[in-house]
Amino acid sequence: MIQIVEHTAAESPSAVAAALAATGLPVRVCRVWAGERVPDTVDGMVALVVLDGPPGAPAAQLALLRAALDAEVPVLGVGTGARLLALAADGGAGSYAPSDGAAPQGALHDHADHTDHAPAPHDEGGVRVLRIGPSAWGVRRHPVHPVPYADGVYGRFAALVADRAERTTTRAFFTRRAATWDERFTDDGPRYAAAAHRMELRSGQRALDVGCGTGRVLPALRDQVGPAGVVAGVDLTPAMLTAAARQGRGAQGHLLLADACRLPLRTGAVDGVFSAGLLNHLPDPRRALREWARVTAPLGVLLLFHPSGHAERAARHGRPLAPDDPLTEGNLLPALRATGWRTACYEDAPHHFLLRAVRTAD
Ligand SMILES: C[S@@+](CC[C@H](N)C(=O)[O-])C[C@H]1O[C@@H](n2cnc3c(N)ncnc32)[C@H](O)[C@@H]1O
Repeated sequence: MIQIVEHTAAESPSAVAAALAATGLPVRVCRVWAGERVPDTVDGMVALVVLDGPPGAPAAQLALLRAALDAEVPVLGVGTGARLLALAADGGAGSYAPSDGAAPQGALHDHADHTDHAPAPHDEGGVRVLRIGPSAWGVRRHPVHPVPYADGVYGRFAALVADRAERTTTRAFFTRRAATWDERFTDDGPRYAAAAHRMELRSGQRALDVGCGTGRVLPALRDQVGPAGVVAGVDLTPAMLTAAARQGRGAQGHLLLADACRLPLRTGAVDGVFSAGLLNHLPDPRRALREWARVTAPLGVLLLFHPSGHAERAARHGRPLAPDDPLTEGNLLPALRATGWRTACYEDAPHHFLLRAVRTAD
């Protein structure tokens, strides 16, 4: 969902909204001027748009903008929204100038004396555009022709939002949970280790954990392949990898930021792929299985794991397994066969889910 934060009744989001409507993604408007509360998380957001409004540096908007920047949710700030965005990127402690045309210090400048952490704005089709990182844009309206000049920027922002929607949702969800991920699942360690050992990797071999999160299984993979082997963990959410590094998991293996369906590895680069809690959340599981087969050497191993049973978990949540659920035996085994894997073992026990498959020779 695209979240728009509207500060004044007069500030119609029409130009922005029209551009974003073209993405077909749902839009939710928070009317601050009508007393509506600014959301306190970016969960479910594929973009955040903060519109113009009166001077001030409201804490809720700054907190939401900071959360969006942390999770790399695309952000568009217009007028005051652009100033708030710059303040949030700066840490939010900078002074804030009222909207008398003067830019706040350390925020959006119209001149060249920007500091290291306050990126310089530049002209795009007549509007002042500030870019922060890969996906946050601040737009200062043209004083005479506010809307037409900004249209091109809004259109390009909408294209970026649509292109990244899926990735943004994943990152927004896991960024918020990353710092406390391991605390929530303290008892799982031995079960992850036992599952990893079912891969039966040997000393000197190469192991990959896809969707590694905080890298909980990396020590067990290192244990198997020894100091001569190679261990790597791949994840799409930077905050998960940051948490992994904080826990010292970088000492057990390489931590890579990448998409499970487009791995930055050559064909046959690893002897074993481990993945926990990922496959059934991917939009195209077969695409992922095919990519994992590509990077796995012939006779290499795939191990899919979850520390609770799949069917049992569904029952516990009071929902039936959907006919197209990718982890049911009837769906997973044909998918594996079609993507270069031979199933060696499928266990959907009450206390764990475990699938072991072997890479077939091409
Ligand atoms: C449920 S968590 C599991 C983390 C870890 N495997 C564990 O068991 O603790 C799923 C992880 O997959 C990552 N993820 C989701 N989609 C991904 C994708 N397309 N490519 C790589 N990682 C992805 C998330 O960022 C998250 O860290």
